[in-house]
Amino acid sequence: MRNPFQYGGVVSGQSFCNRTQEAADLRRAVENAEKLFVYSERRLGKTSLIRKVLAELPEEEYLTVYIDLWPTDGETSFVLACAKAFSEAMATNTDKLLHTAKTFFSRLVPAVTANDEGKPIVTFGFDQKRPDVPLLEEVLSMPAKAAEKESKRIVVVFDEFQQILEYESDVVERLLRSSIQHQTDVAYIFCGSRKHLIRQMFMDSQRPMYRSGSHYPLGLIAEEHWQKFITEKFTGTGKRISAEIITALCRLTEGHPFYTQHLCHPLWELCEEGGEVTLEMIDQATGLLLDRESYAFMNLWDSLARNPRRFLKGVAAEGPGVQVFASGFLRKYQLGSSSNVQRAIELLLKKDIIDKEEGGMVIPDRFFRLWINSKQGI
Ligand SMILES: Nc1ncnc2c1ncn2[C@@H]1O[C@H](COP(=O)(O)OP(=O)(O)OP(=O)(O)O)[C@@H](O)[C@H]1O
Ligand SMILES: [Mg+2]
Repeated sequence: MRNPFQYGGVVSGQSFCNRTQEAADLRRAVENAEKLFVYSERRLGKTSLIRKVLAELPEEEYLTVYIDLWPTDGETSFVLACAKAFSEAMATNTDKLLHTAKTFFSRLVPAVTANDEGKPIVTFGFDQKRPDVPLLEEVLSMPAKAAEKESKRIVVVFDEFQQILEYESDVVERLLRSSIQHQTDVAYIFCGSRKHLIRQMFMDSQRPMYRSGSHYPLGLIAEEHWQKFITEKFTGTGKRISAEIITALCRLTEGHPFYTQHLCHPLWELCEEGGEVTLEMIDQATGLLLDRESYAFMNLWDSLARNPRRFLKGVAAEGPGVQVFASGFLRKYQLGSSSNVQRAIELLLKKDIIDKEEGGMVIPDRFFRLWINSKQGI
């Protein structure tokens, strides 16, 4: 029988737990043609949620364009990624795709191939003979043109938006700002996973995207939803799990979707068909996962100096709500002064080992936190 827990890629359908409120909120934002920044720590389910919201929009009314900026590293690859996403969103067959690509992107030379499922895929090169046409403006004006041509409402999603901070110049950010301001009928969702960077982008008055939209921090999934989801997955496959065990499991993962699914995966394997999950199985499953990661965790730990390690130990043991500048914390974890804590925080934030939440400091990798707690001697 197939393991019902999925982790890693985008999840949908039966593998998607709750997020009813979040989906409704994003749907409203789309209907109102808002410009919205959606952000959270890594692997919290942003892409899955946004994909679901896009898929549920009526096709006859909306044209949805999803652009993954992860592989882009500058203006050129940004332009190519946008051109590709727009052409593919607007064309359903190969001929139409080629036509669309040629009509809309005068300086790009399109070539169309088919993927494994026979769906047309477009790739672009540049027409060097026409260097005068401003490409970036061309792709950024695309949503307005597409709205007119298709007589549909347009939703543009930029996923992994923090990537544009890696670009050499801020020209993309600047032009994007001015073009979205004029496109009052187009909904834009900017989605990103390095929260402090995304926040900085729209909250720092020095940055081009400053206050160019509203923001939506995506949170964890509450235990009550996991209770239903996990119970159904076990009972649906002829195994049992009690509410208390699910509570214990959620305490370990803090309801983080990726880590919850990841831990449920070996737990389901450990439980025999017709059997019931025990607390020992949770320890076993956790042990298995930590063993698998221990080499990487050890390397990461070795790369840190004494104070960041002590700080991490404290946060791992006390949980996110702990007052890290309080004298009790400094004393207990031998941190000396609050300036040592400040330096440790800066370093760990930069390395993405911790993240700042409304409730305090979190170690986003829930397994790393468990690993630190399990190694008292380190
Ligand atoms: N609503 C959900 N229900 C159940 N599991 C979920 C849900 N959302 C996310 N997950 C789990 O988290 C994993 C990561 O999801 P997803 O890729 O959507 O997150 P993300 O925030 O876009 O990640 P990244 O930061 O890497 O872009 C999924 O493979 C799945 O295991
Ligand atoms: Mg994602």
